This record gives sequence, structure tokens and C-alpha cells, in this order.
Amino acid sequence: MVASRRGSGSITLPTGQTMAIHTRTHEEEDLPHATKKTMADHLRKYESLFTLTPQRMRMIVEAFKDSLELGLQKPKQVVPMIPTFVFGWPTGQESGDFLALDLGGTNLRVCLVTLQGEGKFEMTQTKYRLTEEQKQDEGTKLFDFCAECLKTFIDTNFTDEDGNSLLKPGELLPLGFTFSYPCYQTRIDHGELIRWTKGFGVKNTEGRDVAEMFRQSIEKYELPVQMTALINDTTGTLIASHYVNPKTKIAVIFGTGCNAAYMEDVKNIEKINDLGINEKDQMAINCEWGAFDSFEHEHLPRTKYDIIVDETSNKPGEQAFEKLISGRYLGEILRLVICELIDEGVLFLGQETYKLETPYVFETAFLSLMESDPTDELLMIIGIFTHFFAVETTLAERQFFRALAMLIGRRAARLSACGIAAIVGKMGYLDEGCLVGADGSLYNKYPGFADRVHEGLIDVFGEKGNNIKTVHAEDGSGVGSAIIAAMTKVRRDAGLYPNV
Ligand code: BGC
Repeated sequence: MVASRRGSGSITLPTGQTMAIHTRTHEEEDLPHATKKTMADHLRKYESLFTLTPQRMRMIVEAFKDSLELGLQKPKQVVPMIPTFVFGWPTGQESGDFLALDLGGTNLRVCLVTLQGEGKFEMTQTKYRLTEEQKQDEGTKLFDFCAECLKTFIDTNFTDEDGNSLLKPGELLPLGFTFSYPCYQTRIDHGELIRWTKGFGVKNTEGRDVAEMFRQSIEKYELPVQMTALINDTTGTLIASHYVNPKTKIAVIFGTGCNAAYMEDVKNIEKINDLGINEKDQMAINCEWGAFDSFEHEHLPRTKYDIIVDETSNKPGEQAFEKLISGRYLGEILRLVICELIDEGVLFLGQETYKLETPYVFETAFLSLMESDPTDELLMIIGIFTHFFAVETTLAERQFFRALAMLIGRRAARLSACGIAAIVGKMGYLDEGCLVGADGSLYNKYPGFADRVHEGLIDVFGEKGNNIKTVHAEDGSGVGSAIIAAMTKVRRDAGLYPNV
């Protein structure tokens, strides 16, 4: 809901919490608030920390391109450029019923996708929210949970009114498994988890074949399912977006995590030259670009808040690019700035601030809400600070918070533009132009994110940047996964599995 200028209302956050909006302000109360001038001075400091000039962006793009090339040449590079064994574009005529299971950063989703050809499809789905414990528990438990959810879905969708199965004896439903974490693949239905990202820390899983682990859970629950493809959400998004609009050449996800995929000529993927794949083929590459500049931290402009986010994370040094951009971290970056100003005695003097002092309490959804507050008094921001953190704010402080959110959100979008520009530059797409299928909570829900990405592309490329357009992508993890399962079936039937 958008807060109205007058009266009260409520909003529901992605976490399911509800917040009341108050129209009352606290200007007159007798608390030692910072003056307007102090806040403006502080803002100037943060402006210079979080602003990316076009020149700096172009330097980042150059370094980014080098990392992409290196990842194609040699195995196990910082940006791993993972060959996905998804060969070429869909024809748009793929058809049939497919199951898709999507293990994302926040939810687990089970879908039944009916591909109807001609770029059309229908979908039924059920979502389950993952708990924080599940994200840190044992690997086998997580995959068993996936199988349990799949079982419930099949029982509900493939039985008649009397509870009898609609499947023929021995029939196996083809399933695409969207697993949105970096995995080395040597064939389409295999993937060794390189590392967890997005705050996951599930035990006994890194370094193991997650497709095999899930297959064991499928067997344990005796599910009538054959897992035919393990895919990344970006690869699914690339294929799904191309299925409906063939001008799509790149796919990006800006959500809890961030990443991109694109289609590469097999002859350019030097590190798999020895596999004997036809040189004329094309293969989708899952870049895993969230890892750009990890460990060495040579190219990205990290502030001290970014360094704290990194060093206090469960994976210090890793996912350096993602930590400046994705939805998991933006709220935390803003919270750290606020905490610094509390410590310096600038903000909330005389008020209890302990609620703001817990890491990750400040959700990225708050930044979106703050930026989209339509009221002069910034009532939404009053609501956020009083309701969730029990602190009172003045208008000058609220304006400062909103401007800060804008700086952090804008930097994320401009860095995202650098990643897109690197792929565009490397592939030579600038003159002919292309569409970039984009998905994820930041892209879809953060006000102005897409426009800022486009501004960033123009800052890097000049007017020609207009040739590159991001568009809201088709659901990659569901529809994309189904199309890939269908494409894989065609290759298997033609004897082209595992990889020639
Ligand atoms: C993961 C990627 C994924 C991206 C978006 C990143 O943290 O490493 O595999 O595509 O998040 O979900």
C-alpha cells in the first residue's frame, strides 16, 4: 500500500510483518535532535563515498571484462564463468508438462509448467518460505525438505477427486531443478556446489554434487520424478526470456543475490575445448558475477561499511560484487551508517537505540519504502522508525535517511550497469543492441532501480547505451527450468547426452 497524505494505514513487508503508518510527527518534542545543517553536512560526506563517476564505472567495466575472459580460459577463476551444458537457444516450439523445483535465497517453489509452443505456457505453483534454521542445517535435511514439498505438490496436482494417481504405472515426471548457487557442472544433471552464497551455510554440501544429493531424497520419498536438469536461475531466465522474445541476449538477477548469464560460442570457452563439443555449438554461461573482485578487492570502491558487511558475513572475502548490490546487503549497509552516527552522538541522542543495533534488522524493503514515500512529512519513514525501532525522527533526519537510501540504491544500480556493460562490450552487442531479461526483488520492487541501471549504461557507453534495454524477465526458475528440461529431452532422444 502507498501511504496516503492524510490518515493512517498499514503496509505488509515481504517478511509478512505488518506496520501501521502514523500521521503524527514529533517535531515539537523535547529531544536533542541533529540540526538540519548537521544532517546536510553528513550527507555530503556520504555522497562522496557512495557516488560512482562515469570514469570510475568505465574502469570497473574494463576490469570486469578481463575477469569474464579469464573465467572462460581457465577453470576455477574468481568469476567462474560456468559452462551450463544448456546448448543454444530454445526454438520457442518446446512443449509438454514439466515440473520445476526452485531453491532460491528466500523461498522454495514447486511449479507445474505446461509449455504450449509458440512462446506460450501455463503454470501452477506453490511457495514455501525457508526458515533461517533450514539455511544453516544439514544438507540432507534441506534436500529431504525439497522432496517432501515436491511430494505434497504431486499428491495435490496429480490425483483425481478420489485420491487416485493420475499417472500411468511407472510414469516419471520430468523435473528441472533450479539451484541458484554456484555449481561446477560437467553435464546438465550434475553440479558440484562451489560455495553457498546469500547467507546460506547448510552443512556437508559444499564440494558435493547437489543434484545427486537431491536425487537421493527423491528416491527416499519414492517420488515419480526424473530430475533431468540442474539449472541456475539466471540460465533459466535467459532461456525463458528468449523463448518469449528472441531479442534477449543476456539475463540478470538482482534479488537476494545477483548474477548474470548469456550465450557463448563453444569455441570461446577455452577451458572445455578438450571435451570434443562441436565448435559451432553455443552454450549458456552462468557467469556467477557476484564473485567479481572477491578476495583481492582491487577494483570495486568499497566503503568501510562494505568492509564491515564483508568481514562479519559467514563468507568473508567472497561475493564482493554481490555484497555491494544485492537485496541481502543494502539494508545492512544503511544500518551501519546509522549506527555510526548514533555512536558519534549525531542521531537519536537520549533515545534507546538497541533495536537498531542488531545486524540485518534493517531490511532492504525499508529502503524501497523510504524512497517511495510520497508524503511531504515522510510519514512512511516515521512509521518505519517508530514501529520497528522505537525511535523518533525529525523531518531533517528523515530527509537524510531517504537521501542515504537513494545513494546506496543508486550505487547498486550503477554497479549492476557495469556488469551488464562488461558482457555487452565483450560480446559486441552495443551497435545492434539487445534486450536484457531482468528479474529479482530489487529490479522488480525497488523504485527507480531499472532507470538507474539505464542511466548507468549511458554513462558507460554514451548515447549508444540506449540500445541496451533491460526488461522484466519471464520466470526463469519455473518456466526457464521447464524449457531447459524440454530442450534436454530433445538432445537425449537424439543421443546427444551427456555433452557432445
Ligand atoms: C548465486 C547465483 C544466483 C544469484 C541470484 C547468487 O548469490 O551465487 O547462483 O544466480 O545469487 O539468485
